[in-house]
Amino acid sequence: MCPREAEEPAVEIRRLDRAELSRLVEIDRTERINVLYDQRGTQLVARQGNWSASAWEPEGHGEHSVEAKVHELQHYVDNGGVPLGALAGGRLVGIGVVVPHLRPGIAQLAFLHVSAAWRATGIGSRLSEQLEQIARTAGDLDMVVSATPSENTVRFYLGRGFQPMADPLAELFELEPEDVHMRKML
Ligand SMILES: CC(C)(COP(=O)(O)OP(=O)(O)OC[C@H]1O[C@@H](n2cnc3c(N)ncnc32)[C@H](O)[C@@H]1OP(=O)(O)O)[C@@H](O)C(=O)NCCC(=O)NCCS
Repeated sequence: MCPREAEEPAVEIRRLDRAELSRLVEIDRTERINVLYDQRGTQLVARQGNWSASAWEPEGHGEHSVEAKVHELQHYVDNGGVPLGALAGGRLVGIGVVVPHLRPGIAQLAFLHVSAAWRATGIGSRLSEQLEQIARTAGDLDMVVSATPSENTVRFYLGRGFQPMADPLAELFELEPEDVHMRKML
């Protein structure tokens, strides 16, 4: 057993109640980003730079506040979304939401975040596998994601079988024109 496994508690993945969505505050969203992608059709063009994503603001009502993000999660759940949490030692370390039937046969991977200290340990993969299974069971054949265009995030989705879409769904592109819009056959 490697030291990390010996020290860290096991990670349990389970469905979250609507009332638990406010636990998002437990997740550290911080990320250092040195490469961003521009999407041109199905091509991705890398751009070097010094971007960083700071933690969601614990106070206030701004776009990057915890409150705004919790409202976003509640909106998905109120529209049929299913939230899964990854819990370790009683703390929320990852969260993902799938919205089945965004369009007929198409599910949306609407939200996926793993806390900074817990990334690259397989939690995102476990969450997305289970979210895909929920979409399949609901009868969807495709899943789309509007992905943060950072190198790590895009590599994660490519590794999970997502591919850039030539024609992103208009309702998602309008919301996040700078994202990389990807799809995967379920
Ligand atoms: C993208 C994200 C959800 C992936 O979750 P994760 O638990 O780190 O991913 P996993 O451990 O299951 O998979 C790791 C794979 O993801 C990629 N990856 C993503 N972030 C990484 C990081 N910080 N360090 C190393 N690899 C990373 C690698 O390609 C890696 O592949 P490998 O195992 O073949 O090397 C997570 O890194 C995250 O929350 N990032 C910041 C928020 C974000 O961009 N969310 C997506 C919004 S659309």
